[in-house]
Amino acid sequence: MNPSSSSSTTTRPCNFAILRKIAVLISTLGIAFLILSFSSPFNRFNRFSPLDEQVHDEYYELRKLLKAASTKEKTVILTYLNEAWAAPNSIFDIFLESFRIGNNTAYLLNHLLVIAVDDDAYTRCQTLVSHCYLLKTNESSAIAHQANFMTPLYLDILWRRLAFLQTILTLEYNFIITDTDVVWFRDPFPHFITDDSDFQTSCDRFNGDQYDLNNFPNMGFLFVRSNNRTIKFYDFWVSSRHSYPHLHEQDAFNRIKHDPVVALLGLKVRFMNTDYFSGFCSPSRDFNKVCTMHYSKIADLKTALEDWKTFISANQSELSQPFNWSVPNKCLYSFLG
Ligand SMILES: *[C@@H]1O[C@H](CO)[C@@H](O)[C@H](O)[C@H]1NC(C)=O
Ligand SMILES: *[C@@H]1O[C@H](CO)[C@@H](O)[C@H](O)[C@H]1NC(C)=O
Ligand SMILES: *[C@@H]1O[C@H](CO)[C@@H](O)[C@H](O)[C@H]1NC(C)=O
Ligand SMILES: *[C@@H]1O[C@H](CO)[C@@H](O)[C@H](O)[C@H]1NC(C)=O
Ligand SMILES: *[C@@H]1O[C@H](CO)[C@@H](O)[C@H](O)[C@H]1NC(C)=O
Repeated sequence: MNPSSSSSTTTRPCNFAILRKIAVLISTLGIAFLILSFSSPFNRFNRFSPLDEQVHDEYYELRKLLKAASTKEKTVILTYLNEAWAAPNSIFDIFLESFRIGNNTAYLLNHLLVIAVDDDAYTRCQTLVSHCYLLKTNESSAIAHQANFMTPLYLDILWRRLAFLQTILTLEYNFIITDTDVVWFRDPFPHFITDDSDFQTSCDRFNGDQYDLNNFPNMGFLFVRSNNRTIKFYDFWVSSRHSYPHLHEQDAFNRIKHDPVVALLGLKVRFMNTDYFSGFCSPSRDFNKVCTMHYSKIADLKTALEDWKTFISANQSELSQPFNWSVPNKCLYSFLG
């Protein structure tokens, strides 16, 4: 039955090949049709448009905050915060300080919308930044003290977060989503707006080709434009949890990025150079380029802030060798070889 293994006839293998192509095409289109027509997020809002600001539905508060926080181009910077990370002298304080000591990054705090997942995180958020949204769920009290991130509960939080981000897209806002353990040293917008890609992500490992799907993304920092392609893609991504119940959303992304459905949607994905958007697996090698740095430990984040302060206060013309991070390389991912 395998066309390529049969060489005795010339017509039948060819017919099989064509039939198989047609079958693949039909099933692919069928899947795409299902996704495009039945799972559109707009189907969930049958009485009101999610875009209508006057409507007092469940998105009333969120719409008000998005409007207040967004840039002229309708982009917001989002981060998730729980009580453990919001406590004084913990990750959130370091995160905010990086904006203040970064180069032209302080203004970005006006566009930061913090998604607080429990009451204490929300209360502390309000004392520190202008835009805070309380996203309470039945899991809020369990999440509040959660600092260890590979539990089943955390997995659930990640997938819920993905669905929430899709809501942001349907409300017609672009977003940067940043983990709170990412420190910001330069304004990332100039890097995003010069390219029309829909979905631009930081990487654990960057292979030099920004449009190559084989790059390893890191979902700790990414920029997504709101449009029909991204809304449908998020729908597809959220629904992929059924296929990958034990994976977190980043690993599920790595599986579905090659799916024909994604190509059919026309989603334009871009992987950002780790010289600009980096993490402990591939730290930026150039302090004159680095925009963001992602660590997971509070001590490493503090060290990164000290490194940056030393760099900007140094007399650049007197630096005898390129500046380097003081935190030793601790990447444990096997894919890095
Ligand atoms: C900070 O930004 C200004 C204006 O963009 C630039 O001239 C300067 O070189 C930057 N400083 C550093 C350390 O990158
Ligand atoms: C919260 O509700 C969801 C369903 O809405 C359920 O799957 C989950 O187990 C609940 N979590 C807790 C901690 O009760
Ligand atoms: C989706 O496409 C329709 C028709 O082309 C357009 O009117 C609408 O604004 C688009 N929605 C978004 C979020 O871009
Ligand atoms: C930086 O070093 C150069 C060369 O030694 C010197 O000419 C310059 O005045 C220094 N700049 C500052 C701001 O100290
Ligand atoms: C910078 O530091 C990292 C981590 O300690 C090390 O692996 C790397 O070789 C250093 N790079 C340079 C250019 O010194």
